[in-house]
Amino acid sequence: MVKISGIQVKNLVKSFQKGTVQACKNVNLDIAEGELMVLLGPSGCGKTTTLRCIAGLESPDNDDAIWIKGRNVTRLPPKDRNLAFVFQDITLFPHLNVRKNISFGLDMRKTCSKEEIDRRVQEAARLLHLEELLDRKPNQLSGGQAQRVALGRAIVMEPDAFLMDEPLANLDAALRIEMRTEIKRIQRKLLTSTIFVTHDQEEALTLGDTIAVMKDGVVQQVGTPYQIYHQPANIFVGTFIGAPPINLFPCSIQSRGTEMIAISDLFYLPIPEAIAKNLSLGSQNLTLGIRPEFVTIGPKLENSFLARVTLIEPLGSRTLIFLEAKGREIRSVVQGEAPVAEGEAVHVTFQMERVFFFDSTGKRI
Ligand SMILES: Nc1ncnc2c1ncn2[C@@H]1O[C@H](COP(=O)(O)OP(=O)(O)OP(=O)(O)O)[C@@H](O)[C@H]1O
Ligand SMILES: [Mg+2]
Repeated sequence: MVKISGIQVKNLVKSFQKGTVQACKNVNLDIAEGELMVLLGPSGCGKTTTLRCIAGLESPDNDDAIWIKGRNVTRLPPKDRNLAFVFQDITLFPHLNVRKNISFGLDMRKTCSKEEIDRRVQEAARLLHLEELLDRKPNQLSGGQAQRVALGRAIVMEPDAFLMDEPLANLDAALRIEMRTEIKRIQRKLLTSTIFVTHDQEEALTLGDTIAVMKDGVVQQVGTPYQIYHQPANIFVGTFIGAPPINLFPCSIQSRGTEMIAISDLFYLPIPEAIAKNLSLGSQNLTLGIRPEFVTIGPKLENSFLARVTLIEPLGSRTLIFLEAKGREIRSVVQGEAPVAEGEAVHVTFQMERVFFFDSTGKRI
């Protein structure tokens, strides 16, 4: 499939306070037409600044940083970019009813006929299940309904892209999950390019066609949810994504005959050929990473080691088991109920084909 370019961010640099604060350091993103990209990262990593530069609400340091449909828009005002922004704080006009709040942007723009505006408002209201509420005022709406109205206002503009900055952050947990499904469903239907900012890794995994993970103004990795979860570029991405978090153990690599072995005080593990071919013998200061679902508890095997169960946490359909061996904590997740009890001594095995190795700088090998 040919990827048609929707929004491109090229080497974006944005600094504040005379260059003393660099919010974006050479950010590169490529959002295809119709794609939903999630921008994920911890607080202060530059997500909002990146989005505001795309929207035209901030001016990048460099002149050719923001491209929409192949056109350099870096120095164009927001109104000439045809993008719709949805913020975390919902700003509805209290004196206008839902219908007027949704049509507000179109009414201001004065380029659509009244019939066209009515048609678009009806269509958006249908999509967002707001038809019954069109004559209500904002103070007669729940938080979720108000956020739907804010989305409706963006949808009727028929923009080239939606830019959403943590739009669900103020909603309670149940409503967040319901609305995120709703947003994905609507985006699939409209196929409008979308950038969705969040610091919630679960929201990112469930929503994104692609995820861009940021840290300290730098994009760490761009990939599908599968790639970000199963092929993290570095320790930061590996730990930021995944709950319960990945297990990490310092180790070194030695040989045994033709085999390579990962060694630590905890384990002595032959490495499968496919992984070993990327490693070099004698490497020190490596980190072995394994996600909890690939740590199995069961019979004694050649490469298993002994550990004690310290705590069991039911997660509903799965159970998280905390183990301890040689002073180190190990997390294992099993489907269904725990097959063991707290205090029990058990045999732990790593599914070696699911193991990652990170070098001393944290980069995945
Ligand atoms: N107008 C400004 N003046 C000075 N520094 C700023 C300004 N706007 C943002 N920054 C700084 O730039 C960095 C990135 O901020 P940004 O708001 O983009 O982070 P974020 O990833 O959106 O964080 P959060 O998840 O908390 O919303 C921060 O260190 C912030 O303090
Ligand atoms: Mg922000």
